[in-house]
Amino acid sequence: MTEQELKQLLNSMTRKEKVGQTLQVMARFLMENTDDALMGSAAGFGWEKEDFDLAGAAIGTHGAEKLIALQKLQMERQPHGIPMLFMKDIIHGMRTVFPAPIGQGASFDPEMTEKCAQTAAKEAAVSGLHVTFSPMADLVRDARWGRVMESTGEDPYLNSRMTAAMVKGFQGKDLKEPGRVAACVKHFAGYGAAEAGRDYNTAEISEHTFRNAYLPAYEAGIQAGAAMVMTSFNTVDGIPATGNRHLMRDILRDEMGFEGVLISDFAAILETINHGYAEDKADAAKKALEAGVDIDMCTNVYSGNLCRLIEEGKIDERLLDEAVWRILKLKNDLGLFENPFKDADPEKEKEVILCPEHRALAREAAAKSFVLLKNDGVLPVSAEQKIAFIGPYVNRKEMLSSWAVAGEAKDSVTIQEAAQEVFAPERMAYCQGSPLLENGVRLVGFRTEEKMEYSAEECRQMEEEACNAAKEADVVILALGEHYLQSGEAASRAMIEIPEIQMELFRKVSAVNPNVVVVLFSGRPLDLREVSRKARAVLEVWMPGTEGGHAIADVLTGKVNPSGKLSMSFPYCVGQVPVYYNALNTGRPYKEGDEDRFLSRYLDIPNKPLYPFGYGLSYTEFSISELVLDRETLRPGETVTASVTVKNIGKCEGTEVVQLYIRDVAASVARPVKELKDFRKVTLKPGEVETVVFEISEEMLRFYKEGQGRVSEAGEFRVFVGNSSETENQRSFVLIKD
Ligand code: GLC
Repeated sequence: MTEQELKQLLNSMTRKEKVGQTLQVMARFLMENTDDALMGSAAGFGWEKEDFDLAGAAIGTHGAEKLIALQKLQMERQPHGIPMLFMKDIIHGMRTVFPAPIGQGASFDPEMTEKCAQTAAKEAAVSGLHVTFSPMADLVRDARWGRVMESTGEDPYLNSRMTAAMVKGFQGKDLKEPGRVAACVKHFAGYGAAEAGRDYNTAEISEHTFRNAYLPAYEAGIQAGAAMVMTSFNTVDGIPATGNRHLMRDILRDEMGFEGVLISDFAAILETINHGYAEDKADAAKKALEAGVDIDMCTNVYSGNLCRLIEEGKIDERLLDEAVWRILKLKNDLGLFENPFKDADPEKEKEVILCPEHRALAREAAAKSFVLLKNDGVLPVSAEQKIAFIGPYVNRKEMLSSWAVAGEAKDSVTIQEAAQEVFAPERMAYCQGSPLLENGVRLVGFRTEEKMEYSAEECRQMEEEACNAAKEADVVILALGEHYLQSGEAASRAMIEIPEIQMELFRKVSAVNPNVVVVLFSGRPLDLREVSRKARAVLEVWMPGTEGGHAIADVLTGKVNPSGKLSMSFPYCVGQVPVYYNALNTGRPYKEGDEDRFLSRYLDIPNKPLYPFGYGLSYTEFSISELVLDRETLRPGETVTASVTVKNIGKCEGTEVVQLYIRDVAASVARPVKELKDFRKVTLKPGEVETVVFEISEEMLRFYKEGQGRVSEAGEFRVFVGNSSETENQRSFVLIKD
C-alpha cells in the first residue's frame, strides 16, 4: 500500500476500529468459539466480542496452517479487512534452538549470532509469524536475576554488538523479504537493574549509569533498524517505564529517533495501577497512550477505555491516530496488505524446520558459546580412555531454556546420544547419578512431564551405580546444572548454587575418582568455589540448545577447541553480587595484598569475582605481546593505533578473543576502571603469529554527560589489550582538545 492509501485507510476507520488495532490478544482465544472464550479461558480479561473482532495483533501461537486460518477468520471480522500481526517470543531459535543469549554473548561472535537470528527468523516466518519479541538488550550485573539468561551480559559494548546483530539477522534489509520477521528490542529500559535481583523489582539507576551502561544496547538495536520496542516492567526514576513520557517520548523517540511500534510488556499498562502510578484503568490508559505506547499487550485497558476517554475529551484523538498509524505502517512494511499470510507455508515449514543445515549451525554456535573455566590438562579426552558419563544432564533432553517456547526437548541431542556416536560402548558408562533437584524444589513455568520426585532408595541406587562406574573409569564427565526453569522470567534465586543434591553426587564421585570434568548447564553465573577447587576441569555450557549434546562431545573430544569468554562475571559467592568488571575505582580502591585497613574490601571474601568478564581458556595457549601505540597524543579526527602480536604457543589450533579496553583516567565524572571498546577473534595454528591492530578514535572516548549528550574530555587514557578484563597489558595516550 502507498502511504497515501494507508492514510486513507486510517481516516476511514471508526474510533472503535482504531482502538482495536492497539489491542493484542492471545491467538488461542481467537481460535476458540468467541462466546466460549469470553465465558471461559479469556473470561478474566474483561474483553467483549467486538474486542476480539477488532483486535489488531495476536501473541503466542505459531504454525502455518493455524495462522493462515486465523488471518482469514480475523480479516473477515475486520470492517476494513485489516490483517493481524502475529507475534511470539522467538528469543534464541524457534524449533531449532540456539544457545541461550548469555551463551551467545560468551561466543563474542556477532556474525554467528546474526546467522542464528536469521535462521530463527526463517523458521518463524514459514510458521506464519511476523514479529519476534527479541533481542532482549537488558544489561545485567546481578546473577540472582533469572533473566540474565536472556541477556548477552554485563558489558554495554558487547550487548550493543549482539543486539544489532540479532536485529539484522531477524529483519535483514527489508521486512517484506521472505524469511524475515520484525525484531522487537526489549525491555525498555533498565529492567536488568531490578534491585536484589528480584524480578519485576524497583530499578534505582543514576542518570549517568542509565545513560552510559544501560541504554547503549537498546540504542544499538534501534540504530540497526528494529521495527518494535517493548516497554519494561520496572520504574525509571519512580515512574513505571510503560507510563513514562520522558523515557518513551524524549529519550526513545526524540533522542534515539525511534519511529516504530512501541508495545507494552505483558499487562504492563494495567500494572501501572499496582505501581501506584495510575488510579484506575482509565488513568492507566491515558498515561500509557500519552507516553506513546501503541499496543496494549493482553489486557482490556486500551480497548475498554480509549474510546470513552476521547469522547470525554480527556485524550486527544491524535494520540490514538499516531499509534494506529505506526501499527498500520508496520503491517505495510511487512507487506501484509498485499500478502496477509506473508511466508506462512505448511509445506515449506516441513522442509525448513530443524533441517540439517539449521542443526549444523546450532551445533557450531553452541560449541562457540562454551567457556572453559578450568582445565589442568585432563581435557580433551581420548577415545582410548574409559569414561564414565555421570549426572542428571547425561541423558537429559531439556537443555533449551525457559524461553525456548517453540522448541521441543524431544528434538535435542543429549550428551549420551552424542557420546555413543563417537565412543566405543565397551569403555563407556552412562548413569544419572542423582535427581536434578531435591524433592519439592519450587519451580514455576511450563512444566514438562519429567519425573521430579525420587525415593530415598532410588537415590541410593543411582548414587551406588554412579560411584561404581566412577571407580572403573579413567575419567569422569559429570554433567550437572540448574533446571531450565531455575533461570528466566520470574526465576530469581537468592542462592546461586548448583542444586545441593548434585553437589552431594559431585563429592561422592570425586572421592572415588579425582579425575572429574564438570560440564555445567546454567542460565546464569553460579557459585563454583567448591567445583572449581576440586574438579580437574570445568566447562560452562549454559543452556546450549537443540544440538547441545553434539557440541559438548565435539569440545570434550577436542574436535572443537573451546573459545568462549565470559559475558558475565562469575561471583566468588552471592554475597559479592552485583559484581562486574566495568566498575568505578572508588576513593579507596583495594588491590590484592593491600593490608591497609580502610579500603573498599570485604573481611571475609576477595573483591575479585571467581571468574571475570572476558575470561575463558583454550586447549592451546596464546602469547600476547606488549601493547604498542603508534602515538602518545590524539586529537579529534585522528586515530591511535593499538597493536599486539598474538602467537599460538600451544599444541593445537585455537581461537583467541583479543579484547581492547580503555580507561578515562580523570574526567568531570568518575569513569569505569575499564570499558570494552572492541574485540577480535583470531584463529591460529600452533606456531602461527598474527598482529592484531585496533584503531582508537576520539568518538570511542565519549561518554554521556547530562545536558551535553555524548562528549569526550581531554586528558590521559589508558589502553589495555588482552584475553580478559583482568589484562594489565597497557599503554597510555593523551587526548588533546584545543
Ligand atoms: C513476558 C516478558 C516479555 C515477553 C512477553 C510476551 O512477560 O517479560 O519478555 O516478550 O511477556 O511473552
